[in-house]
Amino acid sequence: MSDESDKTTHFGFETVPEGEKAGRVQGVFSSVASRYDIMNDVMSGGIHRLWKDAMMDWLAPRAGQRLLDVAGGTGDISFRFLKRAGTGHATVLDLTESMLVEGRKRAEAEAMSDQLDWVTGDAMALPFADNSFDVYTISFGIRNVTRPQEALAEAFRVLRPGGRLMVLEFSQLPNPAMQKAYDLYSFNVIPRMGQMIAGDRDSYQYLVESIRNFPDQETFLQMVRTAGFENAKYRNLTMGVACLHSGWKL
Ligand SMILES: C[S@@+](CC[C@H](N)C(=O)[O-])C[C@H]1O[C@@H](n2cnc3c(N)ncnc32)[C@H](O)[C@@H]1O
Repeated sequence: MSDESDKTTHFGFETVPEGEKAGRVQGVFSSVASRYDIMNDVMSGGIHRLWKDAMMDWLAPRAGQRLLDVAGGTGDISFRFLKRAGTGHATVLDLTESMLVEGRKRAEAEAMSDQLDWVTGDAMALPFADNSFDVYTISFGIRNVTRPQEALAEAFRVLRPGGRLMVLEFSQLPNPAMQKAYDLYSFNVIPRMGQMIAGDRDSYQYLVESIRNFPDQETFLQMVRTAGFENAKYRNLTMGVACLHSGWKL
C-alpha cells in the first residue's frame, strides 16, 4: 500500500520524494538570487523581456487592478504590470525569501514600494482569502511547483469572479529539428554560463532539465481547463520556446 510520503516527482531529471522538491527548488533560487536578473538577460539574449512584454500586451493591465504574481521572484512581472496599469497594487509571492529581497531593492530603487507587497509562501497553499485578486500571474514559476494542478486550483480560488489567469512558461517546439537545436544550446551552453557568471553550474543544469519535464502546450491547456478556467487559450512565443496560457474565472 502506498501513502502520501511514498509519492515521487521530478527535480530536473532526478526522481525525488514529493516532500523534498520544494526545499531543493528553494536551494536553487537562494543560490542564484543575487545574479538572477543578469543571468536571465545573458541566457536568453534579452528575449525574456520580449516574452514578458508580450504577456503584458495580452493581459492589458487596467488602472486600479489587484495583481497576485506567484513565484514572482525579483518582481519582473509586477513592475511591468504596475507601470502599464498606471495605478494598482501587486502582491509578489515566492517560496524563496532571497529572491524577494532582491525584488524589494528594485522596488525601492524605482520608488514603487507603496504599490507592492512581498510575501513568502507556496503556490499550492496561498495565504489569501477566496476571490481576492483581479489578476493572477505566474511566470517561469509553475514548472518548479511540486503539483502544478494544485497551484492552478489555488489560482482559481483566490481570483474574483471575472478574474484572469496568465501563465508564462517554457514549452515545447513543435518541430523536432528545431527542438534538437534548442536542446543542444540549452544543455551545453546554459550550465556553462551559469558556472561562469553565477559560479553555479548545478542550478542551471536543473533549470534546463526542468524545462524538458514540463507538459506541452495542449496538455497544460487541459490542466488550466481542469482547474475551472474558461475561455482558456494559449499563444506560442518564439515558435514554442515559451508559451502564454490565459484563462478566466467566470
Ligand atoms: C525562474 S524564477 C521566476 C521569477 C519571475 N517570475 C520571473 O519571471 O522572472 C522561479 C521562481 O519560482 C519560485 N518558486 C518555485 N516553486 C515555488 C512554489 N511552490 N511557490 C512559490 N514560488 C515558487 C522560485 O523561488 C523562483 O523565485
